[in-house]
Formats: sequence, C-alpha cells, structure tokens
Amino acid sequence: LTVAVLISGTGSNLRALLEAARHPDFPARIVVVGADRDAEGLAHAEEFGIPSFTVPFRAFADRESWGAELGHRLDAWSPDLIVLSGLMRLLPASLVARYTPQIINTHPAYLPEFPGAHGVRDALAAGVTQTGASVIVVDDGIDSGPILAQERVPVLPDDTENTLHERIKPVERRLLIDVVRRIATGDLALTH
Ligand code: GRF
Repeated sequence: LTVAVLISGTGSNLRALLEAARHPDFPARIVVVGADRDAEGLAHAEEFGIPSFTVPFRAFADRESWGAELGHRLDAWSPDLIVLSGLMRLLPASLVARYTPQIINTHPAYLPEFPGAHGVRDALAAGVTQTGASVIVVDDGIDSGPILAQERVPVLPDDTENTLHERIKPVERRLLIDVVRRIATGDLALTH
C-alpha cells in the first residue's frame, strides 16, 4: 500500500509512521510527504529520504485553486491512501471527493466530541475528565467521517493544552499506525 502523508506542523505523527514503515514487515510504504506551508515536519521526510513537496496555501487565490494544485501533486504519486496527520487545513470538497474513502485523518479528541481545529483546547475548556484520540475517514464535513479507531485519554487536573496534547499524541500515533496496517492488509475496508 502506498501512502501520501499531508502535514502542517511538527510532524511527530508523521515521524511515527515513517519509523513504522521502515520495518520490512510493515505492509505500507510512505511514498511522499506534502505540506500546505514550510512545515517543520518536512525535516522528518528529508531524514528518512522520502520525497516531499509544499503547496503553500497563501500562494493561491482561493481554497479551490490550492486544492487543485495539491491534487495534481498527489496524483503524480497516485497513492493508495492519503493520511492527514496534523494538516491544519480543510481540503476542498472536490479533492476529498476524488480520494474519499482512501483519505484518513487523525484527530486529538474522542469524536464526535470536540471536532475542529482546537479539539484539545476545547476539551480542556469543557472541563471533561477524559478526552481521546480518533482516526476517521475524511468526508466533506469537519472531522465528521466514519470513525476507524478511537481511544480514551484521561485529562488531569493540572493539564495545560500542551501537556494534554502530548498525552494524546502517542495514542494517536499508535491508532494511526494500526489503522494503516489494517487497511494495507485488507482487515479494515474503507467505506464512504
Ligand atoms: C496532531 O494531534 C493532529 O491530530 C492534530 O495536530 C497534531 C499535529 O501534531 N491535527 P504533529 O504535527 O503530528 O506533531
């Protein structure tokens, strides 16, 4: 299974995937890493010798034209699966429609709780004692697609957004690697 990973940030989840995919018995290969900006996480692709590209959102007039260029870059690799791993940008419906359901996303909350760009901050603000991590199929909503895997993560009384997010990320990584493995082996069939 060939995988393209899209990021915007530090790419710690990407790095976990790259490390997992380095093992010869892992049934998926990361073939390219894309970013919507000059993301720190591109350094991980460089280190692992994986090609990467950036399609800077700010260089385009609108989301559609940005999405069209992103789609062209992805099509060049014709990946079997696209993984959004810390991509902090909504994809245009046209691009999602082209790839769904072979496009999945990690989210640092127990969806459908706390969707959107600030899932960790929102859980903290809500005062809940547990949140979670989720891996979903990307549809044209916001973190609203079919849930492929999720797990609860405790919120501790003195948590900050950062300490909570750092507790969630390792769970995200484990779920993501397991979901990619199960998609690659056919255990997990992706549906719309
Ligand atoms: C992850 O928690 C991801 O789910 C969220 O942003 C974080 C990105 O972290 N969208 P990183 O870039 O993988 O370190």
